[in-house]
Amino acid sequence: MVLMQQLPLFGDDARVDGTSNNGSGFQDPAFATNKTLPIHRWVPWVAGFSRDFVADVLQRYLPQTGLVLDPFAGVGTTLVEALLHGHQAVGFEINPYAALASQVKSTAYSLEPACVRETLAKLQRFHVGKMASSEQPRSVMPTGFKTRAAFYSPKVLRKVLFLQDFIETLDDEALRALFQLAFAATMVQYSNYSYEPSLGRRVSAGKAEIEDYPVCETVVAKLQVMALDIEWFRSQQGVSKVKAQVINDTFFNCQRYLGPETVDILITSPPYLNNYHYNRNTRPQLYWLGFVERPKDLHPLEHQNFGKYWQTVRGEDPLQLDFSLPGSDLESQLEILRARHPEKGIYGGAGWANYAVSYFNDCYRFAQVVTRVLKPGGTALVVVGNSILQGLLIPTDHYLGQIAELAGLKLVGIEIPRATRVGNSIIQSDVRVRKAKDSHQLYEAIVELRKI
Ligand SMILES: C[S@@+](CC[C@H](N)C(=O)[O-])C[C@H]1O[C@@H](n2cnc3c(N)ncnc32)[C@H](O)[C@@H]1O
Repeated sequence: MVLMQQLPLFGDDARVDGTSNNGSGFQDPAFATNKTLPIHRWVPWVAGFSRDFVADVLQRYLPQTGLVLDPFAGVGTTLVEALLHGHQAVGFEINPYAALASQVKSTAYSLEPACVRETLAKLQRFHVGKMASSEQPRSVMPTGFKTRAAFYSPKVLRKVLFLQDFIETLDDEALRALFQLAFAATMVQYSNYSYEPSLGRRVSAGKAEIEDYPVCETVVAKLQVMALDIEWFRSQQGVSKVKAQVINDTFFNCQRYLGPETVDILITSPPYLNNYHYNRNTRPQLYWLGFVERPKDLHPLEHQNFGKYWQTVRGEDPLQLDFSLPGSDLESQLEILRARHPEKGIYGGAGWANYAVSYFNDCYRFAQVVTRVLKPGGTALVVVGNSILQGLLIPTDHYLGQIAELAGLKLVGIEIPRATRVGNSIIQSDVRVRKAKDSHQLYEAIVELRKI
C-alpha cells in the first residue's frame, strides 16, 4: 500500500473549519462549503462532501467528456458537478429522500424560473388566505410518524398542513417535486427537533421548543433561492446537453443498470463505519413525503445500507469476513474488537465487531462491483473516514485499499486532506469517545483506486 504523501495525522495545521487541505493535493472534501453554492445549497446533508473536491477531481481526471458514477449519491453533489462539467452521470441512492434531492437538483434546469416564481406567489396568496380563515387543512400528519414529543407545535402544524394542501394542487410533477424538496429541506428547522448532528429533541440540546414560526415565508425564501439557482444553472454552458440518472436502488444491484466497463470515473463517499443512521435521521422527510408509512417500511433500507447498522447486526451470531486478506491485520483487529467488554454483551465488542465485519464485507462487494463497471484505466476516488470502536482505532481507508486490491483494483494511494473530523457524538458510546480522545484522532481520507 502506498501513501501518496506521508502526512502527519495529527498535524498542527489540522483544522475543523474546512479551509485547510492539510497540504494534500485534493480539495477538502467536507460539505460545509456547499452551503453557499448554487444548487448545492438547497439541501443540508450532514454526510455530504464538497463541490470543490468533486470539481477538482473532474478537472484533473476527466478532461474529455465521459460517464461519472456515484454509487452513494446522497443529495447529488457529484451528479450536479458532473453535469456542470459537461459529463453524463449516474447515481445510486437507497434513501428515497436523498434520491429525490439528487433527482430534483440534477434536473432543475428543465424548470422555467418564471414558472417557479409564479407558483410561489400563488402559494403565498393561498397560505395567507387559509391562515386567515377558520378552515381546517385537508392534509393530515402522517399517522405512522411517531415521536416522543410533538414534532410540530399546534400553530406550526396548521401552517405546515396548509402548505401540504397547496403542494397537493400542483399537477406538474417536476414543479411539485421542487416544492416538496423546499419543504423537506426546511421542515426540521420549524419543528421541535434539531440535528446535533443526529436528529434529537431541541430540549435535549438545550434549545427551546418552537411554538410558532413563519413556515410559509421560510419555504418561499427557499424557493426564491431555488429559482435564482435554476436561472444560474440554465446559463451554464452545455448543461442541457447532458443528463444525470438517479437510481433509487442499492448500488449492489448495479449490474441491472450499468454494463461492464462503462464508467470513466467514480467519485463517492460511502457511509462511514460510524453508524450515522441515515434512516433515523431522515424519518421526518421519509414519512412526510410519503415514502414510508410504518416502521417496517424502513427495514429494507436498514438491511441494504452499506455496512448495515450496528442496531441491525449487533444481536446476530458472530459474523465472519466473506474473504481473507493475506498480510493484513484486519481479521486479528476484528477479533481484538470482539473481545472488548464481554460483560456488555451485544453492547460491547461483540456487537461492534459484527457491525465492522458486515461493513468490511460490503467494502469487498463494493470493490468487486467497481472492478466490473470501471473502464480499463478508469479511476475511483472514495472518501472515507477512519473509526474508533470501543476505543480501538480502525483505519478503514487502509483496509478498503487492501480489500480493493484483493478485488483486482490497483491502490494508487491514500491521501488525508482532513485530519480532524467532527462527529464523535455520532456513536453514543462513552467508552468510545473517552478512549478516542486519549489516543486517536478521526480523519477523512481519499482512497484512489484504478482499474488495470
Ligand atoms: C456519505 S453519504 C453520501 C453523500 C454525498 N457524497 C453527498 O455529497 O451528498 C452516503 C450515502 O449512501 C447512501 N447509501 C447507503 N447504502 C447504500 C447502498 N447500498 N446503495 C446506494 N446508496 C447507499 C446513504 O443513504 C447516504 O445517502
